[in-house]
Amino acid sequence: MILCKTVEELRNEIAIAKTAGKTIGLVPTMGALHEGHASLVKAANQENDVVVVSVFVNPTQFGPNEDLDSYPRTLDADCKLAEAQGADIVFAPSPKEMYPSEDMTWVEVTGDVTKVLCGRSRPIHFRGVTTVVSKLFNLAQPDRAYFGQKDAQQVQVLKRMVKDLFFNLQMRIMPIVREADGLAKSSRNTYLSAEERQAGLILSKSLKHAQELFAAGEHDPQKLVAATTAMIKAEPMADIDYVEIYQMPDLNECPNPMQGENLLALAVRFGKTRLIDNTILEVK
Ligand code: PAF
Repeated sequence: MILCKTVEELRNEIAIAKTAGKTIGLVPTMGALHEGHASLVKAANQENDVVVVSVFVNPTQFGPNEDLDSYPRTLDADCKLAEAQGADIVFAPSPKEMYPSEDMTWVEVTGDVTKVLCGRSRPIHFRGVTTVVSKLFNLAQPDRAYFGQKDAQQVQVLKRMVKDLFFNLQMRIMPIVREADGLAKSSRNTYLSAEERQAGLILSKSLKHAQELFAAGEHDPQKLVAATTAMIKAEPMADIDYVEIYQMPDLNECPNPMQGENLLALAVRFGKTRLIDNTILEVK
């Protein structure tokens, strides 16, 4: 496996792969890789000749009081995990390499898809994500790009960007990977104390409860939100940021009764750690 730290090094490797007619799968990450990322790299390895994993803690997607400085940075372990899952190239640039100048070009998706949920709590977040992912797409020129459904809103924002900017690639979205007890895998789980981690199980439990109500015929989004919220509020360590349902794909307001595919999304703080989780509720 090759470790590229500069744009030039990555471009050279991509040129070699393209000249040889090879297909490229890109897995964009911020590092601190876990089994969720491993499932993306594995899928990319099955579907492409060359797999590029980017490891870059992207400063432009963090707000002023967020965890940019404390975000875990574990490049050696990340390279090992990526290689074990079949990565050919790890691209781990410095912030200066990705953002050489303070004057820069932003890529921004507008509309409900970036305004609601995390867009409301983290106003500059998605502009940072779309900007860095555009750069990565231009550099790696992937045939397919791999993202996890855990970041459901990010997935919808990026799909919209790919459509609007005519990026010539396939978006491959992999299911949420969970611990045996239901906690969704996240690089931020390492911040949790033992008590907070235990309390965090309320997220997957409340989503399961909502799925059961939905399957039993409850298609009123307000009632589903109320039932999910009540269950999370009963956990004393949980501090709710949002519990909301929006209509897919662009996260517009949900009609009552619900129709088509809908996203039930949660963001909840346990101590200083903000966890997200979600499920799709589809009216067939
Ligand atoms: O999901 C992430 O880890 C990041 O938001 C991404 C897509 C790598 C962009 O920095």
